[in-house]
Amino acid sequence: MKLLPSKIPQISIVSLFLVLAACSDSNNNNGDRSEATGLTDAARQAELAVGVAFDVNVNVSIERKTLASREFTSVTPENSMKWGSLAPTSDSFDFRNADQLVDFAIANGQRLRGHTLFWHRLNGLPPWLAEELNKASDPAARLQELMVNHTATVVGHYAGQLAQWDVINEPLALVGGGFDPDNTFHQLLGEEYLDFALLQAHAADPSAELFINETFIEFQPEKFDALIALAQRLLDRGAPLHGLGIQGHFFFRAPDKAILLDQLQRIAALGIKVEITELDIPLALFSGTPDPLAAQALAYADVFNACLAVSLCSGITLWGTDDAHTWLDGFSFTAATVPNRPLLFDEELQAKPAYDSVVNALIAIDR
Ligand code: XIL
Repeated sequence: MKLLPSKIPQISIVSLFLVLAACSDSNNNNGDRSEATGLTDAARQAELAVGVAFDVNVNVSIERKTLASREFTSVTPENSMKWGSLAPTSDSFDFRNADQLVDFAIANGQRLRGHTLFWHRLNGLPPWLAEELNKASDPAARLQELMVNHTATVVGHYAGQLAQWDVINEPLALVGGGFDPDNTFHQLLGEEYLDFALLQAHAADPSAELFINETFIEFQPEKFDALIALAQRLLDRGAPLHGLGIQGHFFFRAPDKAILLDQLQRIAALGIKVEITELDIPLALFSGTPDPLAAQALAYADVFNACLAVSLCSGITLWGTDDAHTWLDGFSFTAATVPNRPLLFDEELQAKPAYDSVVNALIAIDR
């Protein structure tokens, strides 16, 4: 019996092509995704900025740069815009590293979040500040003078280029509802340092959305209430506060979707924006589960779904590109769980289950 032999090779070639296409699709699930299925397209479709903390200056491989440009629609300088990074001395500025990042993001069509003008912890303050204040006859006046100069110079330098600024980072105590007793700004200037900083920043770039960014509020109702009350006082006083950032370093406890949703809604009820600004969720939180990577993926979906349910939740930023470059591996609180593996891409820059989970959450939502 004749079986149309002339057509068999053609069918085989078509089948082969389909099989190859399917294979290359599944290869694309890891790190080398086509734009059509990637995080950036999903983020744009959901109208949510999905960002990454990044800096281009320090031995960054081409592969990581490619990942940062391909997979995220927003960029936050991880360190290069902190006061100490920008001001080597009290009267000089060095914008080279920060400018490189800004150029990188602009070239890639990415939104930029400025981070951060005034932060008193870790590498937030310039090393020269303490001495500068010690030797001043009026330390409060000197601090104000330095703040005015810093804000005018830095916010002015990037005016029109950065969509948002974390003007103040972590004003409150780590635990509880008060101001941090170690907060240099609060010690010398009182709560009004916030109004002062916001007004200065607004004058230097009226188009930038100005945020206060806070940490460890996700599971501390008292601290969260204190942040809301503080934001309300600032708004009542007419301060140009446009948003609150919830950092989202979930290393004590996995995110609780209901609590997070409630917090996002309470911030939105103030009439200002909210973003999750520094998200990371270490794998060790799920070590008791049969499939920790799958559990981590669900936790990521919870965070994205909570934000997607609140129209004033305008962005989520991952604090790092990949698990080989997470600040948690160098942080004392999380030293016991190194490698923390808290991000969307693994050490080989391959997409983890959490990646698919957030893409799916973004695609499923009609905002
Ligand atoms: C971290 C950076 O990731 C580290 O590289 C640096 O050594 C210390 O600061 N909260 C913040 C971020 O607001 O600026 C911090 O970034 C992480 C905690």
